[in-house]
Amino acid sequence: MDTDKYLLNFRGYNLQRTAVDIEQLEHLKDFEIRDDDVFVTTYLKSGTIWTQQILSLIYFEDYRKQTRKMKTAELVPYLEYSTHRIDFLRRPSPRLFSTHLPYYLVPNGLKNKKAKIVYIYRNPKDVITSYFHFSNFLEAFETSKNFDDFIQKFLDGKVVGSLWFDHIKGWYEHRENFNILFMSYEEMKKDLRSAVQKFCQFLGKELSEGDIDAVVKQATFKNMKSDPRANYNDILKNEFGIKNKDGGFLRKGTIGDWKNYFTVNQSESFDMLFQKKMKDIPLKFIWDINEK
Ligand code: A3P
Repeated sequence: MDTDKYLLNFRGYNLQRTAVDIEQLEHLKDFEIRDDDVFVTTYLKSGTIWTQQILSLIYFEDYRKQTRKMKTAELVPYLEYSTHRIDFLRRPSPRLFSTHLPYYLVPNGLKNKKAKIVYIYRNPKDVITSYFHFSNFLEAFETSKNFDDFIQKFLDGKVVGSLWFDHIKGWYEHRENFNILFMSYEEMKKDLRSAVQKFCQFLGKELSEGDIDAVVKQATFKNMKSDPRANYNDILKNEFGIKNKDGGFLRKGTIGDWKNYFTVNQSESFDMLFQKKMKDIPLKFIWDINEK
């Protein structure tokens, strides 16, 4: 029997046990998709809440103008987690969703290639660094003794989200089945304005220059950190439980923080594994803030 305190394994994929409703998961494949639905799809710690904020700002004028106080967690709710999903079906279009699910667990209706998916990926050394802090910060995740211990769990896929390599490779290799845009966290970090324009183009949204400025301004790390609609602080405290005083969704928000945590050995062995596993995946990865 599956008795892990933190992980619930559903058809080969690990979810956060306390936040899922198994019956809901059983019906996800048949969840009715509308042509104008949009899914923010990520592996954990890759820029999910950032993209939730960007899409909320692009889609909802009243949110952009700050007259709408709803949180991004409600505006772009998770498909697989119970939190904030109450009125999913009755929502007026366009509906925005978030998901960490692998390609093979998402609703079948996404394969008609009309609804859109933005897949955000991040260099996995920064994902590991971010995830290590995140899981040591929240009650709902298992604490790791040290960084090495976490790397091991991550590489064994014994974390919420399962194996990072499987997630990104699965989505990339099945991209032809979906209407999907791949965007990297680092691309967003290096030139947020261009990233917002790319999103708009893919999503068929025409925003004025002034509106794009407003999106970019409200999606910076600093502004999101102080925006209660976007920073998830209440949700973390109330729903996930905090076990460590330092931390949060908006921790550092940089490229290359992994250098402060990986030893040379850890880094080299990760690089070898990465090269082996990702050799057929031509997505561009940026590991350093100064990299072009
Ligand atoms: P760090 O822990 O490295 O700071 P997710 O939302 O998928 O859990 O990802 C969280 C990561 O995205 C955190 O990384 C967080 O700081 C970063 N992030 C969130 N909003 C951001 C923003 N506006 N700019 C840069 N990074 C952001």
